[in-house]
Amino acid sequence: MPEVKHHLEIKFGSTYGLEEANALMECLRNNAPSCDKKVLEFERDFAAYCGVSYAVTVTSATTGLTLAGVAAGVGAGDEVITTPLSWIATASAFAILGAKIVFCDVDERTLCMDPRKLEKLITPRTKAIIPVHLYGQCAEMDEINAIAKRHGVLVIDDCAHSPGGEYKGAKTGSLADLSVFSFHQQKNMCTLGEGGMVTTNSRALYERVISYRSLCCRVYGKSTKYLTIDEAEKPMGKRYWHLDFDHIGYNFRMTDAQACVGIEQLKKLDRNNARRIELAHMLTGELRDVPEIIPPYESPNGKHVYHIYMIQLARDCPVSKEDFMYELYYHKGVKAWSHYLPIHLSKPFRDMGHREGECPVYEEVFNRFVTLPIFPAMTEEAVHYMAESIKDVLAGK
Ligand SMILES: Cc1ncc(COP(=O)(O)O)c(C=O)c1O
Repeated sequence: MPEVKHHLEIKFGSTYGLEEANALMECLRNNAPSCDKKVLEFERDFAAYCGVSYAVTVTSATTGLTLAGVAAGVGAGDEVITTPLSWIATASAFAILGAKIVFCDVDERTLCMDPRKLEKLITPRTKAIIPVHLYGQCAEMDEINAIAKRHGVLVIDDCAHSPGGEYKGAKTGSLADLSVFSFHQQKNMCTLGEGGMVTTNSRALYERVISYRSLCCRVYGKSTKYLTIDEAEKPMGKRYWHLDFDHIGYNFRMTDAQACVGIEQLKKLDRNNARRIELAHMLTGELRDVPEIIPPYESPNGKHVYHIYMIQLARDCPVSKEDFMYELYYHKGVKAWSHYLPIHLSKPFRDMGHREGECPVYEEVFNRFVTLPIFPAMTEEAVHYMAESIKDVLAGK
């Protein structure tokens, strides 16, 4: 038990290996530049993997979402519809651009945005819809895209949890007008702690994304030429080279060191996702006959890549969520979480006027749902231990 305890409590397990180490050494030999050849290679590989025309690396999904919002023209006075169940960045990235955030309640089974509640939230000011493929499971994109199309609104899907996930056979990254990924250290693929990607099939949106990502980029007529820093500095010399920029932008550039790790991580993604799925199914099998537990629902429309394993306590479960999490952690060493507090009830969004009652489905489920660790390095013994611990806690042992 102590070994397992340590395993579940502290480590998510590294998926880095010699491949990443060798790639990094090579990058160091090339002076580890910012946003250079390895970044372009990673972007090409990632676009090909997702089956889209364009991919643009960024520093995180948070900056990627903001960039997608800028590319979509989101600004003050606009409305953006998203889900209350996500990391706060899904909403805050657009709020910080001045948009009003409107929360669309979730489907009780998938906990993704419920398209049946979406259309009535659209107004003439709605600029974008932001579904999240929560925990690695895709939102119902056909319905969401159809509603968006009817109203001339863009869809930006948050794929932070779902690289390699699929909806009706198509990969995430190819399901919306713009898609945003995270390669943060706890995600299904990682680029040295932080990182992200924006994908699209639209040339126009790609040009806007890339032209705001970095001040080292200019749009020449119809073609965007991405410039490395060296190239950008050549024509005019360092002191004046920003004079002919079309507009101001950010610096959300990824480094080559991150990108060369990302290239290796992408090669491992399918294998690591397959392991996540295998472990998740094992846990679901062990919990299926526990009446107090509702294991995660898998939509037949998609491939769930289990960034996180989520269970719901049944409504008549005699143990409260707080007690369940406390007992699991302090007596069994299994670190259960509660990803995430309803965004509209967080302080910043309360300060913007949001209140209880806006998303009754999620507000109720929030009192009953618990997220559990799952990661490729997890052993089958640990999965079994976690299932037994859950049963013990429910039995008061
Ligand atoms: C659903 C979701 N979206 C966006 C983000 C932000 O990702 P990043 O940490 O790369 O900014 C996260 C981070 O956990 C997330 O879970």
